[in-house]
Amino acid sequence: MLDITPITPDFVAEVRGLDLRQALPASLFAEVEAALNRYAVLVLPGQAVNEAQQLAFARCFGPLEVSLGPSLYNAGRPRRLDDAGLSDISNLDETGDLLGKQDLRRLINLSNQLWHTDSSFKRTPASVSILSAQEVVREGGETEFADMRAAWDALPPQQQARLEELVAEHDYFHSRALTGFDAISVPDEWKQRMPPVPQKLVRVHPGSGRKSLYLASHIKRLYGLDDAASRALLDELMSFATLPRFVHQHHWHVDDVVIWDNRCTMHRGRPFDESQRRAMRRATVMDSAPTVPENWRAPAASSHTRAAQDA
Ligand SMILES: [Fe+2]
Repeated sequence: MLDITPITPDFVAEVRGLDLRQALPASLFAEVEAALNRYAVLVLPGQAVNEAQQLAFARCFGPLEVSLGPSLYNAGRPRRLDDAGLSDISNLDETGDLLGKQDLRRLINLSNQLWHTDSSFKRTPASVSILSAQEVVREGGETEFADMRAAWDALPPQQQARLEELVAEHDYFHSRALTGFDAISVPDEWKQRMPPVPQKLVRVHPGSGRKSLYLASHIKRLYGLDDAASRALLDELMSFATLPRFVHQHHWHVDDVVIWDNRCTMHRGRPFDESQRRAMRRATVMDSAPTVPENWRAPAASSHTRAAQDA
């Protein structure tokens, strides 16, 4: 039996009573999955997993994503981590030294400090992320999580009805540009590999049946709205969904493993003193299908303008 202690009543729980260095019995994994469906963020302290153990645990949730670093912007270069299935969430280079200020990997990772949900810029986005901490900073560097089910529940029914029809354009290079990365002059190959993708603005979480907003700083616009209406609605929703009452901050300790469900949460990393070392790695599970059908076509701009003005 797992030992599950709520950190907040409905959103974040601490889980003990399992060892991720060993293969989990199916019954124990079912308890983890049920807890993740009930909450949305699980904190597992004292899990000193190596890369293979972290990946093996992540595969219990489904097929994994390949990290964008080794497959795109850092392709063919030496990495700090051995396995391309893991994203390097650190400020270290392949030799273990601190990244320089202008290092591409640092600049790309900066947008982790914006509210987002992992890989929503992919046609089939991420479901579950599993982040483990090997080296932590004394101050700062926390990860904040926002409960998109609670934010949805708190919206007036009239607004919920309008939002349910909307589809957003998520663009990897949009969120990079927001943190000063020169997204315009990236190689064409990157742009072809990472085209903007549509995602529903409101999702139903399969494990709980709860509806949730599906927001991220990767969103460039809402289809069917003109630019001003789209930006205004997105800003309003982002501000609302990240009000303190929906947010929990996790302060990291070495050997913490934190699991979150990207389908119903947002998260962001907090700044820290970059002269301090911080080493984490993330395994990311692919969702089972795109959020909008492959044959979906974008509506003409401004077809939803009236709805947005009313919202
Ligand atoms: Fe993230």
